Amino acid sequence: MIKGEDKTMDIVSNIKIERSNGSKLPFVDFNNIKFGKQFSDHMFVADYKDGEWQNLKIMPYAPITLSPACAAIHYGQSVFEGMKAYKNEDGEIFLFRPEENAKRINKSAARLCMPEIPEDMFMDAVKQLVEVDADWVPAVEGCSLYIRPFLFASEELLGVRPADEYKFIIFTSPVNGYYSDEVHVKIETEYSRACEGGVGYAKAAGNYAAALYPAKLGQEAGFKQLVWTDAKEHKYIEEAGTMNIMFHIGDALITPNTELKTTLAGVTRGSVLTLAEELGVKVEERRVTVSEVIEAAKNGTLKDVFGTGTAATIAQVSSITYEGERFDLPALETRTLSNEIGQVLQDLKRGRAEDTHNWIYKI
Ligand code: COI
Repeated sequence: MIKGEDKTMDIVSNIKIERSNGSKLPFVDFNNIKFGKQFSDHMFVADYKDGEWQNLKIMPYAPITLSPACAAIHYGQSVFEGMKAYKNEDGEIFLFRPEENAKRINKSAARLCMPEIPEDMFMDAVKQLVEVDADWVPAVEGCSLYIRPFLFASEELLGVRPADEYKFIIFTSPVNGYYSDEVHVKIETEYSRACEGGVGYAKAAGNYAAALYPAKLGQEAGFKQLVWTDAKEHKYIEEAGTMNIMFHIGDALITPNTELKTTLAGVTRGSVLTLAEELGVKVEERRVTVSEVIEAAKNGTLKDVFGTGTAATIAQVSSITYEGERFDLPALETRTLSNEIGQVLQDLKRGRAEDTHNWIYKI
């Protein structure tokens, strides 16, 4: 049920389409999908050279050839996005707020001295790629087609400077939920994901690489994810793993603000806050102290903790550990707010709920 202005997307870019000879689809079991392990038949590729985007094409998904001196490999000029396409029972395909991803990749790109991707080009590429691989969008409840746009410096270059040549590629992958079991987290007080003045607000590949080692230590200690805290004092909460994080304390939904640019302004994050406000919940975007969360866990006012992100959508947290003390959170089925918002989002994305915000694009 789509309401509001017509969000059918017009195509303005000149994209050449070369179709694959055969499809890998017969080898995919949509009832048994693993996150990020299977890739659809086609990908979009564009080159940035001589100050402009060129060679826009959709072609069979395949390895790409790069120079060993490719700048992204050495100096990390690489940013990405994550978005999803959904299919309803009638086979119609929807995208959720794709223009937000188009804007955000350019914020990330600007921070890493990379060229802007015109929003029209981004949107056309996503739309046409999803159209070409429409059969790859799972209709199974809880599943979707994950879309991974990424931009990286492809110039053969050893000097440290912003590259002059880039590639913008999009591929897609049918996925199910990101977490298959309980999410137990630890509040990290030694390592940091981001610092003020850094690149925490950008979806930069290096942010994820820097998180791997502390996350590995956390996993070895039995934690699914780490809750990142500020780099100066480890006193303020920032994110959880690769997600934004929210706390339902008393009658308020509280989440770290993004002004210090150490956290990513997630599309799911923004959507959840809007929906929560509409449900009459008091929303607070501000600095969140570790101590207030622990205090709330101790005095029983911490009703819910959940991560938000494109991959996970809403990931309810089962327990939080801080300085060796574990706090178990209420049973998942009793979490009224995250369950309700999760359902609204799911219905919207599958075209089952009235889209009063104009968030849904029909392909
Ligand atoms: C997303 O939610 O799209 C993410 O960025 C998580 C991803 C690293 C799997």
